[in-house]
Amino acid sequence: MERKEEMVLAMFVLLSWGSSFIEAGLQMGFYSSSCPQAEMVVRSEVNMALRNDVGFAAGLVRMQFHDCFVRGCDGSVLLDSTPTNKAEKDSPVNNPSLRGFEVIDRVKARLEAACKGTVSCADILAFAARDSIAFTGGFGYPVLGGRRDGRVSILSETFSNLPSPNSNLSQLTQSFANKGFSQDEMVTLSGAHTIGRAHCNTISNRLYNFSATNQLDPSLEPSLATQLKQQCPQGNNDKSAVVPMNLRSSYTFDSSYYSNVLAMRGLFTSDEALLTDPMTANRVMMNAFDNSMWQNQFSRAMFKLSQLGVITGTGGEIRLNCRVIN
Ligand code: HEM
Ligand SMILES: *[C@@H]1O[C@H](CO)[C@@H](O)[C@H](O)[C@H]1NC(C)=O
Ligand SMILES: *[C@@H]1O[C@H](CO)[C@@H](O)[C@H](O)[C@H]1NC(C)=O
Repeated sequence: MERKEEMVLAMFVLLSWGSSFIEAGLQMGFYSSSCPQAEMVVRSEVNMALRNDVGFAAGLVRMQFHDCFVRGCDGSVLLDSTPTNKAEKDSPVNNPSLRGFEVIDRVKARLEAACKGTVSCADILAFAARDSIAFTGGFGYPVLGGRRDGRVSILSETFSNLPSPNSNLSQLTQSFANKGFSQDEMVTLSGAHTIGRAHCNTISNRLYNFSATNQLDPSLEPSLATQLKQQCPQGNNDKSAVVPMNLRSSYTFDSSYYSNVLAMRGLFTSDEALLTDPMTANRVMMNAFDNSMWQNQFSRAMFKLSQLGVITGTGGEIRLNCRVIN
């Protein structure tokens, strides 16, 4: 699609969604005069990385979620630890599982060469997540620009702000409500688990140590359980062992996640928790049967997520290197 057509489409989407929930300070086409190639450079570099390893798509989408839920979408997840500070990225919820940092670094290097000190790391990540969704077959959506980069990243803040895969429905709902998302939006966003992978340690309790009465989680579909136990043997010390999130189509952004959940083939307790209430279970069913309805809702929810707690105007900074504050 031509850039101009794309812009018109984005404006149309924005108008039809209502601009009321656009965070003050963010703008469509924020870089149109300061760095007109910004979004194009992000997309070309992301596409190149994904042609090489499509797994980075899942990594970048998850990275956007983890950035925005901890201190807002301010690129805090991208900062490296220093001798005096353990950063978000070194939390066990992110390390070693979060992937795609090198992709962001490469985009940033190109943008620094083209428009020095202009495009924030937080904006690059927001664009890259959108491009990853589009690359894998999801609907595109407009991403506003103008986020500034934060100067603080604290490991311990990941625990209180990011939901655990062992969460029940009320914990999930609360975790998203804390960030201004409805329970419906929480169900919609959980569909991101249609792509990617999980490390064995995130499911080992479901396989081997579920409860006092059941070693194996009875809400895990038996043939999937057998398969997962083979891929994740008990007491396996290989911390890098992973399983696909969605055996139907781990590389395609579609609503098959919800069919998995309905078939008790969701990987996490938090995935199956969506069936524990009639309202959320009904939403799961609707999403499973109507891919494009879910895609539309997912786009809106990502549009909202990408504006969470942003720093704009003269706050924060434009980092020159996404891993370190200026
Ligand atoms: C609802 C609460 C959520 C919980 C408890 C949760 C938990 C997890 C866990 C434990 C993993 C496995 C990471 C690993 O071991 O490699 C994972 C992966 C992933 N999550 Fe979530 N997540 C949630 C919501 C979300 C949301 C809202 C998004 C994005 C919009 C998202 C996107 C992803 C993606 C794409 C992956 C695959 C990552 C990869 O392949 O590298 N998740 N999630
Ligand atoms: C969810 O988990 C929390 C913490 O373990 C617990 O207090 C709460 O009762 C659980 N809620 C439901 C509905 O099971
Ligand atoms: C199994 O779960 C219990 C309770 O959560 C925990 O105390 C124990 O350490 C776990 N055992 C293993 C082998 O992980």
